[in-house]
Amino acid sequence: MHVTRTTERTESSQPGIPDHVPPELVRAFDFRTDLGSYPHSTVSELHSGPRIFFSPIHHNAIPGPGTWVPTRAEDIRAVLQDAATFSSAVSRSNSSLRLIPLEMDPPEHSKFRAIMNPIFSPARMKTLEEKVRNRAKELVAACYAKGACDFVEDFAKPFPVGIFLDMMGLPMDNMGRFMEWEALIMRDKFTRAGAMQQVAAYLQELVEDRRKSPTDDLISFAVTAKVDGRPLTDAEVTGMCVLLFIAGLDTVTSSFSYHFRHLAENPADQDSLRHDFSLIPTAVEELFRAFAVVNTNRYATRDVELAGVLIKKGDNVTCSTILASRDPREFENPNKVQLTRSPNPHNAFAYGPHRCLGSHLARREIITGIEEWLTQVPPFKVKPGAEIVTHGGGVFSMESLPLIW
Ligand code: HEM
Repeated sequence: MHVTRTTERTESSQPGIPDHVPPELVRAFDFRTDLGSYPHSTVSELHSGPRIFFSPIHHNAIPGPGTWVPTRAEDIRAVLQDAATFSSAVSRSNSSLRLIPLEMDPPEHSKFRAIMNPIFSPARMKTLEEKVRNRAKELVAACYAKGACDFVEDFAKPFPVGIFLDMMGLPMDNMGRFMEWEALIMRDKFTRAGAMQQVAAYLQELVEDRRKSPTDDLISFAVTAKVDGRPLTDAEVTGMCVLLFIAGLDTVTSSFSYHFRHLAENPADQDSLRHDFSLIPTAVEELFRAFAVVNTNRYATRDVELAGVLIKKGDNVTCSTILASRDPREFENPNKVQLTRSPNPHNAFAYGPHRCLGSHLARREIITGIEEWLTQVPPFKVKPGAEIVTHGGGVFSMESLPLIW
């Protein structure tokens, strides 16, 4: 069931903190602000603190009095893998729109995930390869022609939007409109809900159109798919498409931004990839690990013990892929980027039933983007004096990345 929760509980002597939270485990850590220019390093400092703490500030404006934050990869994994105890069925959009399959729990989740899996299989992604390559080529050429660029605005944002439009069978002249929606969704919780409703209304029209005359795009696939032997409703198709829009854009934009900042600030790493493209896939796994971008949320469906503390039914739990990927218990020298690190069982795409559906596409986009940059653009670096502003929250992001070469 999809719920918009309100929480009723008694509070302890600390305002806003539920009774059962031990005062020594309260820590007003805010995943959204004051993380500095290198937010991953700031977050990784939490590993020197308690195994789990309670923050009164939720990273994503989810209702409730705050959130538990397990810091170890082991505990984060346990939460994400136990969907019966830690539910994902909570609205992230502050609206009636249900994002499918993210805001569902098994067994319902599994039915929708099963129809979506084939669209994102590695084999299917191969068929997108040429489009991804051409799109990267065009955008890199345009950046190079400018002589210098803002990597975020000129490349990291438009690249995944173009791929999304392709998948949805939408013409590229929709680019401006979808870029604006993406900006509003990424800006803050106040602009997010309205923009998501607008995307939903726009896609809803397409759903009606594709029901009448299906093509070979993703919406047509969704309107002809069946769950429990029945076709999907319009709201279900729209919920799936809106999720693909929001899940596949800012995550890719942000990952690109942090990956390229690393390459721009570390000429030896950039040089090694420039001279041997076969190193890029392994390097990209390390960049995903070191610069994971997602903090997600679950809530407890029953009282349960986690990391030695009592989590009460209804409590929020923040699952930070950023924390998990920098856990010193799982990765040697977690704060050092080692592009040849292998094996690299990182957490950037999460675990369990909701593990990222688009990970193969994301990998393809990032690898191709790096290859095209290193092919077309000479050694690049961050423009001297540029201030790099980053944002925290549900998806870590970067405001701009001025590059010169
Ligand atoms: C580097 C880029 C990406 C990262 C770091 C990333 C990360 C994640 C993470 C951590 C989750 C789990 C969320 C949770 O459990 O609450 C997730 C789920 C998801 N991702 Fe991605 N993602 C990326 C790219 C994409 C792309 C390109 C698409 C599709 C176009 C996509 C589609 C999805 C979907 C549909 C889900 C929900 C899956 C489910 O509920 O079963 N992602 N992603």
